[in-house]
Amino acid sequence: MKKAKITVVGSYNTDITLNVPHLPLNGQTVFGTSMQFNPGGKGSNQAVAAHRAGADVVFIAKVGCDGMEKTGFELYEKIGLPTDNIIRDESVNTGVAAIEVDKETAQNRIVVIPGANMSLSADDIRQREDLIASSDILLLQLETSRESIIEAVKIAKKHGVKIVLNPAPFSDVVFDIIKDVDIITPNETEADLIAPGHDGNFQWAASDMIGMGCRNIIVTVGKQGSYYKGEKGEFVVPVIDLKPVDTTGAGDAYNGAFCTALAEGKSMKEAMQFASAYSSLSVTRPGAASSMPTREEVEELMKENV
Ligand code: RIB
Repeated sequence: MKKAKITVVGSYNTDITLNVPHLPLNGQTVFGTSMQFNPGGKGSNQAVAAHRAGADVVFIAKVGCDGMEKTGFELYEKIGLPTDNIIRDESVNTGVAAIEVDKETAQNRIVVIPGANMSLSADDIRQREDLIASSDILLLQLETSRESIIEAVKIAKKHGVKIVLNPAPFSDVVFDIIKDVDIITPNETEADLIAPGHDGNFQWAASDMIGMGCRNIIVTVGKQGSYYKGEKGEFVVPVIDLKPVDTTGAGDAYNGAFCTALAEGKSMKEAMQFASAYSSLSVTRPGAASSMPTREEVEELMKENV
């Protein structure tokens, strides 16, 4: 099997995870049960997922030197993810995210202070043009500076590298790049923000995104699975129904695994099935990056369920 080569341009955050019996209402104070510092950030989570799923990963990111970045580096060292392209900048703080996780439903609420992620510059990306150019896929989210995202897209396009965009969290930069993206992977909420006015009907939103110039749309729809519309037709891939503990990073797990399988030469549907199984398993464990399963664990699960 061909080894996938994925470049992720994206964010790193240290997640301050607060476990609560239920998410507080507006103005309500609740007692939590525990707190952890976890490695997070959508870019980092996706890079870790792709690496654990079997890809060679280049992760281009920026962190501060305030100590908050250590949680991430400890994980990268433990799992063997190369850190050569994680830029340390003393003048900025590492990104952080405050995450409340509901013990009953495993749902979460997240506030991100992006810090260093917004200092990732076009020049930082230009200096790494050869790394992007030699990748099978460039995987992007919208949690770093606008200029870093636009430059990465420009370089990938110049070299004919496939671009997968996870438009999370939603930002209007998506409208600048959607026509250059090969595959866009919003969740339901993001689909509605990119193509509003369909009353939550993500099939119609996907048709609108095709009208905006993107050729392949995958909408991840939680327990309903993932919906594809584009060059390969239209279909739904179900999730594997496992009991979730913490859904933080579920979309990141999906994106990292999906790109890995696609770059290995799997079909769109096969790559989505792998991603779906990967993501289903990730939510059975606490944390974001630290919950990403290995390839072997996912293949074992797929033997019994797909
Ligand atoms: O997608 C989950 C991630 O969103 C968390 O790890 C948090 O850091 C925010 O970026």
